Amino acid sequence: MQAVAKNVRQGVNALHGSTAVLGASLKKVFASSASLPAEAEINESYVQSQLGYVSDAHKVTAPSMLQAPDYLLMGPGPSNPYPRAETAMSRKIIAHMSPYCYSIMDEIQEGLKYVLQTESKYTFGLSASGGAAMETTVANLMEPGDKAVISVAGIWGERFAEKVRRKGGIAITLDKESGETLSFEEIKAAVEEHKPKVFFTTHGESSSGTRQNLEGVGELCAANGTLLAVDTVCTLGGEPFFTDKWGVDVVYSGAQKCIGCPPGLSPMSFSEKAIEAVKARKTPVDSFSFDILEVGKQWGMFGDARPYHHTPPVNILFAMREALNIMAEEGLQASWERHNACHNQLWAGLSELGLKPFVEKAEDRLSTVNCIAVPEGVDAAVLIKHAFDKHKLEISGGLGRTAGKIWRIGLMGYNCTPRNVDSVIAAFKSGLKEQGYL
Ligand SMILES: Cc1ncc(COP(=O)(O)O)c(C=O)c1O
Repeated sequence: MQAVAKNVRQGVNALHGSTAVLGASLKKVFASSASLPAEAEINESYVQSQLGYVSDAHKVTAPSMLQAPDYLLMGPGPSNPYPRAETAMSRKIIAHMSPYCYSIMDEIQEGLKYVLQTESKYTFGLSASGGAAMETTVANLMEPGDKAVISVAGIWGERFAEKVRRKGGIAITLDKESGETLSFEEIKAAVEEHKPKVFFTTHGESSSGTRQNLEGVGELCAANGTLLAVDTVCTLGGEPFFTDKWGVDVVYSGAQKCIGCPPGLSPMSFSEKAIEAVKARKTPVDSFSFDILEVGKQWGMFGDARPYHHTPPVNILFAMREALNIMAEEGLQASWERHNACHNQLWAGLSELGLKPFVEKAEDRLSTVNCIAVPEGVDAAVLIKHAFDKHKLEISGGLGRTAGKIWRIGLMGYNCTPRNVDSVIAAFKSGLKEQGYL
């Protein structure tokens, strides 16, 4: 029922408790509003019927401008974003269906095609985390009963297998000790035996610091009717990666690592073959939000019409565009070289302190996430706390199987500089001295 403004002006207030307070404030608002016609109708009665019941139990008592701590993120991610990306992010929000927003999305697609080294028009940024991009991969490629062969050398392979099982797929795992990678022969034997719909591997297993060699794997998969899906969350932009040349059918990454953007938009690319496989499904993708055939329309992948699918994190689009521009200015090869040079500098310094890499074979070591074996007698957590408290620097321990056994140092994107490497080495030196190791 609608009450007339006249009632407000007359201070009709038959309600109890704080209703009277709101009634008074409504009166104040309307009294000061020159635009309110004398007999204008306002819907006051519903609100009034709800007054006096609000609980203040969780009401913030001291609202203030957020002051987040400022420290150097040298763990396995997120990394500090490029300042230019942060500035771009603070630009005023725009409507996501506006031509301006579509032009930003187009620029992001171009930037991602460069970073991913692909010509595929099915290249875009998923409005979600890297883990959700993994889920999108599974949701689109797998149907109940489909087989996936999965390389499992740490938490990300384990998660992919779990997601496949939850979709009713058959997960055939190729298990490796953490710190090891699969040989081409091992992959070949499994793909030829099982002829799975999908072969999945992480390019960089950030929980143990290994890089999977992918040469020849794309051809092998193509010859066996298998789609190749690769996680590049901790490698894209920091380690050489060639989507088209290596025959990768689905690749996803994260914004917050080597790309130098805050988290929230995950690069993804599908090959023509992968899109055909999604179109040929017997059942629709069971997630509307993550269905590539739906999301892709808004990115202009399936024609000029760009209908609404969801509201993307517009400010992260701004930041991603900027971060990709910075990557283009530096050049992909220069970026890979910078990551490799910092990795070598880090290990030269850590070796002088007597520290050893967790990954035995040098050719398997990631440059972006560096895993250090915790020596006997040293408490990993105490050193992490020392780095944080005394050096304002975040480094990380192991994850999943490697928890307690290793430290993880990220050299990624904006944070991958010789100066930051020196800071990490200095933190280790003083932290190890504090524990009497040096
Ligand atoms: C290799 C790898 N895959 C997937 C993920 C998941 O990304 P997110 O934390 O954005 O969900 C991570 C995050 O650290 C990762 O390193």
